[in-house]
Amino acid sequence: MKYSSSVRSDFEKRANRYELDSMWVTSDTINNVPFLFFSQQDTLGDVIDVGGGTAYLSNYLCRQLRHNSITVIDLSSSMLDIARLRMPDAIIINESIERFYENNETKYDTILARQIFHYVDDVDNIVGILHKMLNKNGILYVGQFVVSDNDSNLWHESFIKKISVNRKRSFIDKEFISLFTNEGFEVVKTEYTPYEENIKSFYNRSTNLGINYGELYDYSVSSLKESVKNDLLIRITDDNLFFTVKFLHLFLTIK
Ligand SMILES: C[S@@+](CC[C@H](N)C(=O)[O-])C[C@H]1O[C@@H](n2cnc3c(N)ncnc32)[C@H](O)[C@@H]1O
Repeated sequence: MKYSSSVRSDFEKRANRYELDSMWVTSDTINNVPFLFFSQQDTLGDVIDVGGGTAYLSNYLCRQLRHNSITVIDLSSSMLDIARLRMPDAIIINESIERFYENNETKYDTILARQIFHYVDDVDNIVGILHKMLNKNGILYVGQFVVSDNDSNLWHESFIKKISVNRKRSFIDKEFISLFTNEGFEVVKTEYTPYEENIKSFYNRSTNLGINYGELYDYSVSSLKESVKNDLLIRITDDNLFFTVKFLHLFLTIK
């Protein structure tokens, strides 16, 4: 199964600014949810952070919680350079999840998969791989921004696609969770963290050089339905638009 090489080059360019530009990555409010969940276990066992990037999350957990080993796998070598500095003892693998799985049948006790599902070519394929990689009593933690209904999803998806060809889709929470339960996962726990984003911050991370900010602003404002304004708690100013999405924390085990 191929992966998109344009995702790799996107993160090669963005690596040094990644944690500054995407402030949710380092948010204690977001990181504490998996931390509190996993702190109730004796050990994380063998951990893999798939699409782990700069390994902020895996380090957040593993620097304080007992574990046997930690592996970080990512397409981008520049993201992994930061991970390596952060966690010198981690096993770092510069490979796609898809290709890694073709050559490796190791199973893990804890799998972390945060904010990767809108980038991958084939979500069902990745969910299937994660199912095969997880030990019988292991936990897969998924962190992903989602919205609640179809109209919000249409608005959010068309907006994110305008600024990046690599962000391939947006998710409605119930449908997203079904991707995992249909594959043989059982939900152990879900939790949501509301998170306010704004289009100017997204534009600064844009990889689509063909769109200027004025066009993005006009499009984002004019394409809003009333229901979406309410659902995403939209706030519009003269030069920006703020919207609130939900960060879904999903803890899964094998059914
Ligand atoms: C938004 S970042 C998330 C990084 C990290 N999980 C976190 O929460 O900070 C998405 C990461 O997924 C990686 N990625 C996307 N598709 C991938 C694939 N098919 N295989 C491996 N890594 C992938 C990207 O290179 C990037 O580092």
